[in-house]
Amino acid sequence: MTPKKTNEEEELTFEEEIEKKAAEEKGKAKAAAEEEGRRRRSLPTLLRGFRDILPDEQGKWNLLRDTIRQVADAYSFDRIELPILEKTDLFTRTIGKQSDIIQKEMYVFEDQAGDKVALRPEGTASVARAYINHGMLNLPQPVKLWYLGPMFRHDRPQAGRYRQFYQVGFEMIGSNEAIVDAQLIVLAHRILKDIGIPITVQINSIGTPECRREYLVELTNYFRPFRKKLNEDDKRRLQKNPLRILDSKDPVVLELLTGAPQIVDWLDEVSKAHFMKVLEFLDEAEVPYALNPYLVRGLDYYTHTVFELWEDGDGGELAQNALGGGGRYDGLLELLGGRPTPACGFAMGLERIVRSMAERNIDPPARPASKVFFAQLGDAARRVGLRLFEEFRKAKIPVAEATGKNSLKAQLEVANKLGVSYTLILGQKEVLDGTIIIRDMDSGAQEIVDIKKVTSILQRKLEQSEGVNPLSHTPVADQKQGTGITIE
Ligand code: HAM
Repeated sequence: MTPKKTNEEEELTFEEEIEKKAAEEKGKAKAAAEEEGRRRRSLPTLLRGFRDILPDEQGKWNLLRDTIRQVADAYSFDRIELPILEKTDLFTRTIGKQSDIIQKEMYVFEDQAGDKVALRPEGTASVARAYINHGMLNLPQPVKLWYLGPMFRHDRPQAGRYRQFYQVGFEMIGSNEAIVDAQLIVLAHRILKDIGIPITVQINSIGTPECRREYLVELTNYFRPFRKKLNEDDKRRLQKNPLRILDSKDPVVLELLTGAPQIVDWLDEVSKAHFMKVLEFLDEAEVPYALNPYLVRGLDYYTHTVFELWEDGDGGELAQNALGGGGRYDGLLELLGGRPTPACGFAMGLERIVRSMAERNIDPPARPASKVFFAQLGDAARRVGLRLFEEFRKAKIPVAEATGKNSLKAQLEVANKLGVSYTLILGQKEVLDGTIIIRDMDSGAQEIVDIKKVTSILQRKLEQSEGVNPLSHTPVADQKQGTGITIE
């Protein structure tokens, strides 16, 4: 006979049991968490600075691309597609060896053949190459080209700055007239205005390489006594590329800049006259601009006019987040071995524009919702459905469907959720008879019609329900007919 357990013993056993259970549960939870951690770590992830543009953003992107295309057409620019991969030296020769892009941001590698190649960091050098390669100097000048596509810069990612980003660019090659500079700025302003983003153009002239040379001596002389106060980056700039010191964000430099010589005072007469003309044209076109003596831009190929598009009311990050920028690059084609050919252009960052659209709640008009839903029962109906959809597309009747679902009930639930006016129902019997059922979703009335006539009948019904001719409208209830199909 087993000795009877005391109450105390029983309680202890019970507590121990609970503790054991709790410990087991904890162990299981820990193992599950570890497993989940392992699973998550093994999931594919994006590279830093790269992003997916998901379907719910596409409306804004489409609106932006459509607006760009319309303005490009209106101004008679021709589209050019350029390769994403180019020989590295195309960029090192043009953008400037001391620029941030060439120094640290370009994605460069050797391909299988040992060629040094780069993911394009910008489009202007490629357009200039294409102009030379395809003998475009034989075309009526200026040649007006635009492009849109991804660019790559291994920059420090932050809001509005990515390692892969989309640019649209406009280039006019073959004219040194000031009207060209102005027209490009007007065009940039037009695109952003049509989208609904107010901007001010920041503008400056950096003249010719000759007048800049004298200015750079002055600028370096001015900063030399303050050299010790500068950070390492600015010291390097002062030594290697003094113009870029004007672009510094360091408060010490910003303070010093107020007393620094300004490039406009070193412009020769031709450069001055060109700049004045550009400004006059902008006044004429009523494009808001601000003279910015510190605007120099980060690429070395510029001459004369340089400009950036700054969003109004963008208090903080301004220059870092310019929506676009550009200028004249009269020496670039010659630098690449072409004939001396003046040119001007600009590019805008699409992510930055889309971000501003989101902040301003700028959206494309909603896509008209489908008024018709197609429900099918069985594979024969699916096959006929494929053909029917082509007819609906030609008749411009948007038709929704839920092909993945099999039961009629589930399909009608989707139709109800979508709020369509009519559902077409095609079962095996209808396929054999060459008919289809039209169900009025408000009244529930169903009619069987000849499948060959369904498109025209639908067209008529939709016109009537849109109130085109309300008098000819036959109440749906009067059309009610029995159909063999029951919904379950
Ligand atoms: P950019 O100023 O280097 O100029 O770039 C133009 C625009 O591209 C910028 O204003 C910005 O909106 C966008 N962008 C640049 N880098 C990034 C980034 N990391 N992430 C997001 N957006 C960015 C050029 O590229 C010249 N090729 C423009 C030009 C054309 N000059 C004459 N013709």
